[in-house]
Amino acid sequence: MSIPDRLDEIPPSGIRRLFELAGRHKGVISLGIGEPDFDTPSHIKEYAKEALDLGMSHYTPNNGLKILRDAISVKLLKDNRIQADPDKNIMVTAGGNQAFLLSLSTFLREGEEVLIPSPCFVTHSAAVRLVGGKAVEVGTYIGRGFRVAPEDLRKAMTRKTRCIIINSPNNPTGSVLRRKDLEEIAEIAAERNLRVISDEVYEKVIYDGEEHVSLASLNGMSERVVTINSFSKTYAMTGWRLGYAVADESTIAKMTKLQMYLDACPMSFGQYAVAKALGDPRSKVSIEAMRSEYESRRNYVYGRLRNMDGMEVSKPGGAFYIFPRVKGRGDVTLSEKLLLEAKVAAVPGSTFGKYGVNHLRLCYATAMKYLEEAMDRMEKFMGKIP
Ligand SMILES: Cc1ncc(COP(=O)(O)O)c(C=O)c1O
Repeated sequence: MSIPDRLDEIPPSGIRRLFELAGRHKGVISLGIGEPDFDTPSHIKEYAKEALDLGMSHYTPNNGLKILRDAISVKLLKDNRIQADPDKNIMVTAGGNQAFLLSLSTFLREGEEVLIPSPCFVTHSAAVRLVGGKAVEVGTYIGRGFRVAPEDLRKAMTRKTRCIIINSPNNPTGSVLRRKDLEEIAEIAAERNLRVISDEVYEKVIYDGEEHVSLASLNGMSERVVTINSFSKTYAMTGWRLGYAVADESTIAKMTKLQMYLDACPMSFGQYAVAKALGDPRSKVSIEAMRSEYESRRNYVYGRLRNMDGMEVSKPGGAFYIFPRVKGRGDVTLSEKLLLEAKVAAVPGSTFGKYGVNHLRLCYATAMKYLEEAMDRMEKFMGKIP
């Protein structure tokens, strides 16, 4: 099948559809789109201005500025316990999404299967299909806090399985994989000689004192795993479009070749800004301020939903989403009614795959006063449903 045919088969993102619908109605509180409501920290903006004043407005190397790759390498060792050579194992991309598509393109062949714990981030399954692979959803459930069960991964395997995708902390469920889960996934990947793509863009949005564990840091995994990360969520800079991938030398070389023919390089002055930000102690302070605010909001929204009629909810351990199961109504109908009658925008769970049916995704990266009002409206609305 050719790329245009595959593209025809992929539905447009349900999140965008909801976003447009919400825009047509006045007074809607949006818990729809998933991005930080904070501004990019001012010192990072200052660094970008400095870069422009230095004349950094031209192409950079295809794999990104050397100063940024060096800074990422230091960060990886310190935060993630991943040893990565800045010239061989790291490339800078136009966001995590691009890194994901580029990495899949380097190894996935037509018809090969990719296991994706589901509900899952919309881009993951779409990218697999676009590249010609088959996305195989492996169900995750509220009772296990949406953490994938390793035995379910084993059951879903066939001779065609080539790759597993993990995403912790997770969009849309907020689940966080434990070290033990990751060790079991690593064992399966080694046994079956699989690639793993580990999407860690929410690594810094994690609660209850938990520690983020990178799969690539586990014994023997660094050659097998592509780690995807991004500055979008960590530094509240989704519009800057900057992320990176960490992988074995051959994968990074192929990704770099492909990037040359796509956008040549990620944006120049932003790369300088994040390179500086990685080494600036103010960044840690900004990250912690945002993280702790998200945690307070998580606690509030979780507490309200737990006591709401018709909702079953598990406490998310990270990211800024909560994924309640809604009883007795289809998620698409409920989302539409919530929007029209209660004026709250929440994404239907089925947008995130077949295991998301009868759930809603609420994003709480929104100021507390709006969350309070949204919860009041939802409570009233849910209370009226027979
Ligand atoms: C799980 C996950 N991965 C990747 C991305 C993409 O982020 P970026 O802005 O870096 O492309 C997102 C954005 O919502 C996400 O939720």
